[in-house]
Amino acid sequence: MSNVKIKVMDKGPLMVNGDVEVIDMEGNIFDTKSKIALCRCGESDNKPFCDGTHAGNFEDCARAANLNV
Ligand code: FES
Repeated sequence: MSNVKIKVMDKGPLMVNGDVEVIDMEGNIFDTKSKIALCRCGESDNKPFCDGTHAGNFEDCARAANLNV
């Protein structure tokens, strides 16, 4: 198990905590830090990163299935 955690934010981005590389389809590496927000609404002008445009424009609140029930 890696030390990377990805949290699906309600009505917002994927928050990634840990050392990861984000690369484009040509293999170029984006400049990142150990905590980044990846856009999942598709509206950011700074893709693949969140720029806050989702606020008020994106409604998804994903939940994982609880397998202990
Ligand atoms: S999730 Fe924030 S701009 Fe898309």
